[in-house]
Amino acid sequence: MPTTIDGLEDIVATHSSICDLDGKLGKLTYFGVDIHDLANHSSFEETAYLLWHGVLPTQKQLDELRQQLCANRQLPARMLDLMRLLPTTTSPMDVLRTSISALAAFDADLQNKSAEANLQRAIRLTAMLPTIVMSWEHLRNGREPLVPLPDHSHAANLLYMLSGKLPDDYTAHAMDVALILHADHELNASTFAARVTAGTLADMYASITSAIGALSGPLHGGANEQVIRTLLKIGEVDKADAYIRNALANKQRIMGFGHRVYRTEDPRATHLRAMSKELGERQKDTRWYEMSRVIEQCVKEVKGLNANVDFYSASFYYLLGFPIELDTPIFACSRISGWTAHVLEQYANNRLIRPRAEYIGPKETPYVPINQRGA
Ligand code: CMC
Repeated sequence: MPTTIDGLEDIVATHSSICDLDGKLGKLTYFGVDIHDLANHSSFEETAYLLWHGVLPTQKQLDELRQQLCANRQLPARMLDLMRLLPTTTSPMDVLRTSISALAAFDADLQNKSAEANLQRAIRLTAMLPTIVMSWEHLRNGREPLVPLPDHSHAANLLYMLSGKLPDDYTAHAMDVALILHADHELNASTFAARVTAGTLADMYASITSAIGALSGPLHGGANEQVIRTLLKIGEVDKADAYIRNALANKQRIMGFGHRVYRTEDPRATHLRAMSKELGERQKDTRWYEMSRVIEQCVKEVKGLNANVDFYSASFYYLLGFPIELDTPIFACSRISGWTAHVLEQYANNRLIRPRAEYIGPKETPYVPINQRGA
């Protein structure tokens, strides 16, 4: 058996045309289009089209996708009934995972596994994710969910569904850029989970349910929630340096730092740092940004680690008014585009994903009858 690599570090597990990630150069592209160009010029909808089709859309194709996304935002009424049965203490990520799984039951065409049917599912799931997340946010707080907007962008609708107010153009655009930056990231843990499930030819709902479970952990998407909790715990800029040095001296992990692939700055963090700063300045509350800068410099000095996508997105979402528990579900509201693109790619050229484990347990263990095993 070849050498075992814990955590599959640097193991190339599949071919993919979707996302190219160069950890040495800090370069990230979707179908060859640089993430910086997408962040500066594109929209979430256009990026989703690129991920699903492999090319940037024409204006007509983009208009059509926008219209399809808007038209599919509403949940089946009984999905809301199902959510009402859950204890209000249920975490938003758990509700999201459960809801996506349940959506399979409302797909009358579930047995249709054609590429076109799966593309339509990708569009529907992407349209519905913000509705699920925000509906639960209202329900768990004893309020009735809002009806999603019949128009406006994915980003504007997401913000509207939280507050009931249409965001201004600046805020909607900033949210849109955050969604672009989170849309896909090669074979990260949740995407791998989605592809493993799709590789058994299980349906798209099962694949995305797997992905959401993987995203929820604090070493992956769950890190952004932990970042803002750390910032709130520190509370003041001038306490940040000592807090972090002490935490590192005690071998604690600082959430939002380090990456399995990047050995340089995460290109997404470059944008999110600037966005956190700018939003803080607009809101005349730069405390979280300043605290983040101190932490970033400290972690770099002591451990040589860079901030990842989850570090500055935490203060950015906080300033946008999202409750902390929604940080990871919001990540999912973007990553659904990448997950579904990978599931479509997996189905298109499928082979069961089934690695091996190097056995290190006991051997030749005798079977002892139960009445001879002692007390
Ligand atoms: N804080 C302190 N030390 C760290 C950190 C951190 N955030 N990350 C890695 N290290 C240290 C780790 O203790 C180890 O040190 P030593 O060799 O002295 O024992 C060394 O760096 C290597 O760590 P590792 O766990 O073997 O590295 P990995 O490639 O397995 O882990 C990681 C990658 C992202 C899980 C890890 O860096 C981490 O736990 N970061 C914090 C959680 C986080 O921010 N996750 C988000 C990841 S990026 C976006 C996403 O996926 O959502």
